[in-house]
Amino acid sequence: MAGACFLLIFASTLLLASIKSSTASRMAKPGCRETCGNLTIPYPFGIGPGCFRDMLDVSCVNNTLYRHNSTISKMKIYSIDLLGGQSRVNTFIASNCFYNKTNFNTDGWASLNTGEFYTVSTKANKLTAVGCNTLAFLGGFNEHTVGAGCFSMCADKQSVDPSGQCSGMGCCQTSIASNLFRSNITFDLRFNNSEVNSFNPCSYAFVAELDWFKFKPYYLEDDKFRKEFRDGVPTVLDWVAGYENCNEAVKNRSSYACVSKNSQCINSPNATGYLCTCNNGFAGNPYLEEGCQDIDECSFPDQYPCHGICSNLIGNYNCLCKSGTRSTDPKKVTCNPIGVSERAKLMKVSIGISACAILLLICISALLMECQKRKLIKEKKTFFQQNGGLLLYERIMSKHVDTVRIFTREELENATNNFDSSRELGRGGHGTVYKGILKDNREVAIKRSKIMNVAEKDEFVQEMIILSQINHRNVVKLLGCCLEVEVPMLVYECIPNGTLFELMHGKNRRPFISLDARLRIAQESAEALAYLHSSASPPIIHGDVKSPNILLGDNYTAKVTDFGASRMLATDEIQFMTLVQGTIGYLDPEYLQERQLTEKSDVYSFGVVLLELITRKFAIYSDGAGEKKNLASSFLLAMKENSLQSILDQHILEFDAELLQEVAQLAKCCLSMRGEERPLMTEVAERLRTIRSRWREQLMQNPINETECLLENSSSNYDISSTGQHGSLMALDLESGR
Ligand SMILES: *[C@@H]1O[C@H](CO)[C@@H](O)[C@H](O)[C@H]1NC(C)=O
Ligand SMILES: *[C@@H]1O[C@H](CO)[C@@H](O)[C@H](O)[C@H]1NC(C)=O
Ligand SMILES: *[C@@H]1O[C@H](CO)[C@@H](O)[C@H](O)[C@H]1NC(C)=O
Ligand SMILES: *[C@@H]1O[C@H](CO)[C@@H](O)[C@H](O)[C@H]1NC(C)=O
Ligand SMILES: *[C@@H]1O[C@H](CO)[C@@H](O)[C@H](O)[C@H]1NC(C)=O
Ligand SMILES: *[C@@H]1O[C@H](CO)[C@@H](O)[C@H](O)[C@H]1NC(C)=O
Ligand SMILES: *[C@@H]1O[C@H](CO)[C@@H](O)[C@H](O)[C@H]1NC(C)=O
Ligand SMILES: *[C@@H]1O[C@H](CO)[C@@H](O)[C@H](O)[C@H]1NC(C)=O
Ligand SMILES: *[C@@H]1O[C@H](CO)[C@@H](O)[C@H](O)[C@H]1NC(C)=O
Ligand SMILES: *[C@@H]1O[C@H](CO)[C@@H](O)[C@H](O)[C@H]1NC(C)=O
Ligand SMILES: *[C@@H]1O[C@H](CO)[C@@H](O)[C@H](O)[C@H]1NC(C)=O
Ligand SMILES: *[C@@H]1O[C@H](CO)[C@@H](O)[C@H](O)[C@H]1NC(C)=O
Repeated sequence: MAGACFLLIFASTLLLASIKSSTASRMAKPGCRETCGNLTIPYPFGIGPGCFRDMLDVSCVNNTLYRHNSTISKMKIYSIDLLGGQSRVNTFIASNCFYNKTNFNTDGWASLNTGEFYTVSTKANKLTAVGCNTLAFLGGFNEHTVGAGCFSMCADKQSVDPSGQCSGMGCCQTSIASNLFRSNITFDLRFNNSEVNSFNPCSYAFVAELDWFKFKPYYLEDDKFRKEFRDGVPTVLDWVAGYENCNEAVKNRSSYACVSKNSQCINSPNATGYLCTCNNGFAGNPYLEEGCQDIDECSFPDQYPCHGICSNLIGNYNCLCKSGTRSTDPKKVTCNPIGVSERAKLMKVSIGISACAILLLICISALLMECQKRKLIKEKKTFFQQNGGLLLYERIMSKHVDTVRIFTREELENATNNFDSSRELGRGGHGTVYKGILKDNREVAIKRSKIMNVAEKDEFVQEMIILSQINHRNVVKLLGCCLEVEVPMLVYECIPNGTLFELMHGKNRRPFISLDARLRIAQESAEALAYLHSSASPPIIHGDVKSPNILLGDNYTAKVTDFGASRMLATDEIQFMTLVQGTIGYLDPEYLQERQLTEKSDVYSFGVVLLELITRKFAIYSDGAGEKKNLASSFLLAMKENSLQSILDQHILEFDAELLQEVAQLAKCCLSMRGEERPLMTEVAERLRTIRSRWREQLMQNPINETECLLENSSSNYDISSTGQHGSLMALDLESGR
């Protein structure tokens, strides 16, 4: 029982399927002939009674389709466009000949004879005339009586357009009116071929499909044209299912053409009347019952793309991703990664390949960049090591120095505007000093060393280590350094007013420098050196004390700098220097001889600076005769000869002679040939402190116009000079400046 039932169901489904498939493919009415030759005949066209609608009957003879009864019409149908409402048919050519050969229709006219439900398509056709001295017309009717014409003229053979264009020289073309029926092609017989009979006896005119006709000049000769187009010319006709518009058509159920389910009416855009069409998602013949069939979209992935799982619905289709990826539209985008069609897979593979290629490219470039980076880091590391970074690092760690900052190369490049020459503060034996402005707007001095040899590098590190341990008001403060460059750089606090050397002799030279300023500079420098010698442990020897190494801040604050030649003296150990460093004129003669750098070497050099301050002469200077002289030697000689006045700066000569004598005496002690005879730096500083405070007391009690004193260069007694505000103000300034 169950088996039989099953069989029945099976059979009926099969039957249904077969019916469905057969009806789906049918275009003609059931029981009507569907093809003629290779042409399909879709209803409302048809052969025989009951197989066509209204006047759309056709006949098929010798596998050729004709409109109406072929024996009557002789009008072939080349094709039928069911949905576009057009068909391609043949029409006849009108001709007018000047000679009287038989077999020629020289009536001078031709009917287009479209018949009912057909009109000549205005969009798809053109009226064409061929001939010389030819005026052709297309007359007919739509809502109006209309006519269009074109004129062609050529007096001789040479006047014919050889290019094959219908330009009016042997051939002309014109557009035609829309919705024409009962149209007729005629010639204006006032223009005939009598004059051009020798090369063009006939004129022709026809309505043909756009762009179909190509004019050839030989068409003008004899009956060549007629022979070539014996069957007439192809013309596009618009046809309609009814003359009403859709609103009217739908109302009349008995005549409504769109009988299929899922079909609808459309007003023909090309002609007056309506056509039928299947709804979206359906295809077939809308003029037949059951004509519009559902489209199985999944079978046509080209027209109905689905990159997911396709399932057909009536009038539509579903395309889903298997799970999770509903947000994307699988009709447009590939789902990942299941239920993908072969095409999508292919696409995916190609996408994958290109993605891999891109990834590889990125990887390679990243690798290269990494290599570059590593190289740079390695370079920096090498420089760091070469520049004594490790040594410094160890020292800093062991001494718990946290005041020195390591700057990056970029930071310093930025701060100095890439070491712009306009930022240069000074250029010396050890390198160039630039003014830099850090990100926090702090002004700094950046010393960029010259390319160094090993000894110089050692020196550089020495300076860093020493400076990193010193924190004194009169010693230039090291803020940090940059070691990751070939040329190491040191970053100091910025001291704005140049060096003592510049003040005395150089670019910042002032014609007058007060005695108080000089004493201040001397005392503060001495304090700095005393601090280096005594306060730091182990003692630090500057090793290159000279006026260019004393920087001046505001109000002549002295700041000792340049510790490149400095040494830390290990206790109970006398350093034996293989290389004597220092500057001629300031160099301790004992050190020069013994090669032993001691604190007393600094004392000697300071003695020379003291001399510079009171004599305002270079350490090595040329006298009036142009002879080079050592300041220290000259001074000692002057002291011996008791002619100190001759060597002192004229500008301070006027002041307290006793005081000056005292300073001179101190300098003399500092310049003793034997180190042990020289005072300690602390003692020097102490003495200078006393001298300076005494001088200031005198100024307070008895202010003098120092400037005035210059002009009156008579007595050595400052008492005689007039009193003034300037000097005292200066003194007060200096006092508050401390
Ligand atoms: C139909 O057959 C004719 C000749 O028999 C041929 O010229 C034409 O191209 C064919 N049309 C189609 C659509 O195959
Ligand atoms: C059909 O073809 C046959 C032979 O090919 C011919 O004799 C006959 O005239 C043709 N009929 C028409 C209507 O063209
Ligand atoms: C065509 O017309 C002729 C003469 O009127 C007639 O004999 C013939 O049967 C017609 N053919 C068709 C298919 O209607
Ligand atoms: C109307 O005319 C145009 C141009 O000839 C043609 O492409 C189209 O198929 C015709 N019919 C419709 C319904 O657009
Ligand atoms: C037509 O041709 C005949 C002989 O071929 C000639 O006698 C007659 O004049 C011609 N008629 C015209 C109008 O050319
Ligand atoms: C076409 O025009 C000719 C000449 O003017 C005329 O004799 C013929 O009847 C017309 N045909 C139609 C269908 O209008
Ligand atoms: C042909 O044209 C000539 C003028 O070019 C004219 O005299 C003659 O009458 C025309 N013939 C006809 C039949 O109209
Ligand atoms: C409906 O169509 C039939 C047949 O075409 C016609 O006779 C009838 O007048 C039409 N009715 C209306 C209301 O248009
Ligand atoms: C320094 O850095 C600032 C901001 O980071 C930038 O605007 C400026 O152009 C840089 N200067 C140089 C010389 O790189
Ligand atoms: C020192 O420099 C500052 C800033 O450049 C300036 O204002 C001041 O006048 C200078 N002082 C001396 C004594 O040169
Ligand atoms: C100080 O000397 C200068 C220069 O001669 C002079 O212009 C000024 O008036 C003097 N000041 C006093 C208070 O005398
Ligand atoms: C310099 O002296 C002036 C005036 O007494 C004072 O305002 C200023 O702070 C001093 N500058 C420095 C750097 O000591």
